[in-house]
Amino acid sequence: MARKFFVGGNFKMNGTISSVKEIVNNLNNAQLDSNTETVIAPPALYLLLVRENLKKEIGVAAQNVYDKPNGAFTGEISVSQLQDSGIAWTILGHSERRTILRESDEVVASKTKYASDNGVSVIWCCGESLEEREAGKTLDVIAGQLAALKKQLGSDWSRIVVAYEPIWAIGTGKVATTQQAQEVHASIRAWLKKEVSDKAADETRILYGGSVSEKNCKDLSKEKDIDGFLVGGASLKPAFVDIINSNL
Ligand code: G3P
Repeated sequence: MARKFFVGGNFKMNGTISSVKEIVNNLNNAQLDSNTETVIAPPALYLLLVRENLKKEIGVAAQNVYDKPNGAFTGEISVSQLQDSGIAWTILGHSERRTILRESDEVVASKTKYASDNGVSVIWCCGESLEEREAGKTLDVIAGQLAALKKQLGSDWSRIVVAYEPIWAIGTGKVATTQQAQEVHASIRAWLKKEVSDKAADETRILYGGSVSEKNCKDLSKEKDIDGFLVGGASLKPAFVDIINSNL
């Protein structure tokens, strides 16, 4: 089965009302590849602004969501509130939340299961540190993260997009080589085939994230198991359109 190319834009904790409106305006007026699924993730404060003004063919994602129904969880956002707002996606397990906010594999897996079971699709992030790569532990680290997810998610990965984001490439300008990225993507797909199902392996999009730019996206997009990108800094710039169109 052909997997639809996917480009996500993770704004992180960046932007103002005027800068977010400018990005929305740029995307609304851009010629975008209709064979690429595009989803942007603004800060939570701007989710409704973006959803109400962005053309409907572009999806909108939260950058996090809680794994309980509405209730006494100060500061959290619920899955039902995302749906109430027309927000069909969320990012979960970003390395910044795993390291800075101490989100464990188990917490990320619980949030992913809850969102997926309740109709919100998930860009689930994984990746290794520079120390883990230099110690030759990359594939083991990724397999451990995947195993923690599968333990709670089970066999239905239809609402999951996997984003491989080597921590040492995030925000550093040091993009993974096409060989480095393809090796890990192929190992993720092989893991899905062995541990979940042929269907999950064939249909799950695996994105690369970490210093993706309009200069390096075309070469990366040619790799067999790279199905798209999760873009940070470059998603805030007009050149994000070139990354969305990198698979043309
Ligand atoms: O989630 C995407 C992000 O972690 C990548 O950031 O700025 O290296 O593209 P950046």
